[in-house]
Amino acid sequence: MSKKILILPGDGIGPEIMEQAVAVLNYLNQADNLGLELEQALVGGAAIDATGGPLPTETLAMAKAADAILFGAIGGPQWESLDMAIRPEKGLLGLRSNLELFGNLRPAILYPQLVEASSLKPDLVSGLDIVIVRELTGGIYFGQPRGIRTLENGERQGFNTYVYSESEIKRIGRLAFETAMKRNKKLCSVDKANVLEVTELWREVITDLGKEYPEVELSHMYVDNAAMQLIRAPKQFDVIVTGNMFGDILSDAAAMLTGSIGMLPSASLDQNSKGMYEPCHGSAPDIAGKGLANPLATLLSAAMMLRYSLNLDAAAVRIEQAVNTVLEQGYRTADIATGTDQKVSTAEMGAAVLNALNAQN
Ligand code: NAI
Ligand code: MG
Repeated sequence: MSKKILILPGDGIGPEIMEQAVAVLNYLNQADNLGLELEQALVGGAAIDATGGPLPTETLAMAKAADAILFGAIGGPQWESLDMAIRPEKGLLGLRSNLELFGNLRPAILYPQLVEASSLKPDLVSGLDIVIVRELTGGIYFGQPRGIRTLENGERQGFNTYVYSESEIKRIGRLAFETAMKRNKKLCSVDKANVLEVTELWREVITDLGKEYPEVELSHMYVDNAAMQLIRAPKQFDVIVTGNMFGDILSDAAAMLTGSIGMLPSASLDQNSKGMYEPCHGSAPDIAGKGLANPLATLLSAAMMLRYSLNLDAAAVRIEQAVNTVLEQGYRTADIATGTDQKVSTAEMGAAVLNALNAQN
């Protein structure tokens, strides 16, 4: 039975990096008979320009019908003056909430070949391999009421609502404990329980859930300390679970430890492990269209997709090994180049990965 993959390049560097991922998927599909059926649709700025909105009904319908989604990136200065409700970012948030993709897995892995590119000293980061499990469809990014209102004295006031219900905490907690069970059975839950009631509940629910996973060593940390510890001694962590906003910030910090946000994939899963896969970075308007973007995060996202949503582990491993090979061979896009490294373009990096795949026996 064929498996439908929806390709959503988006805007900015999205189309450039996605071109490389599609080439790799097409190659593996043919070489290994994976039975993948690739379709493509518009989202974000590209959809706004073509249809007036960031998430066309047709795109959403195709996303719902697909077995998995590979997403590029969205957003840019040319759409920033638009109303918040029709900005490119709404396309992404709309997909996440409509598909109930509540569980965001963001691995931060330092490839041994890139130790020099990390912002930390080699001994602090070499061998780093952590996963941040971020709640993605709740918390302050979605809480109601929200807005900007004018007070009686004429002053304007911006406000958002930070809410989590028990069931929302439980389902992300379960995903985190399950992830920890598949790794080193160590989970750190990050909150701000000393100040925010919503995370006081978070801590209580996670602690309760922990009783079902006696093998997992559970700890709790306040988010400010967690930010500090991630920079001070990141290898103390294995799996981190946290809410939407804290996870957004901490996972970007963790990303820098690995050298470049251009290397980091992510998965966003629903209850049935249907998922949307995307690089952790945004649309990088500063380098869009210049052939400078690193496509590896997108290729590694495609690998996660093959593994988590399509049950094609062997194909996932092939991509991961090919990425390892090209790094070994010294291919570097600008973001991961150090010293005298020769820099390659987005397309050259994609081609190198195809070559590496071809050379695998
Ligand atoms: P960004 O991730 O787009 O860029 C941050 C920095 O990293 C830039 O200097 C960029 O050139 C660099 N960078 C990002 N991806 C790279 C890659 N693959 N290769 C090499 N360098 C790379 O974040 P920024 O600048 O804060 O946001 C730009 C736009 O992207 C905004 O409109 C923002 O809303 C949107 N955004 C979209 C996301 C998504 O589509 N999932 C996530 C984050 C931001
Ligand atoms: Mg972010």
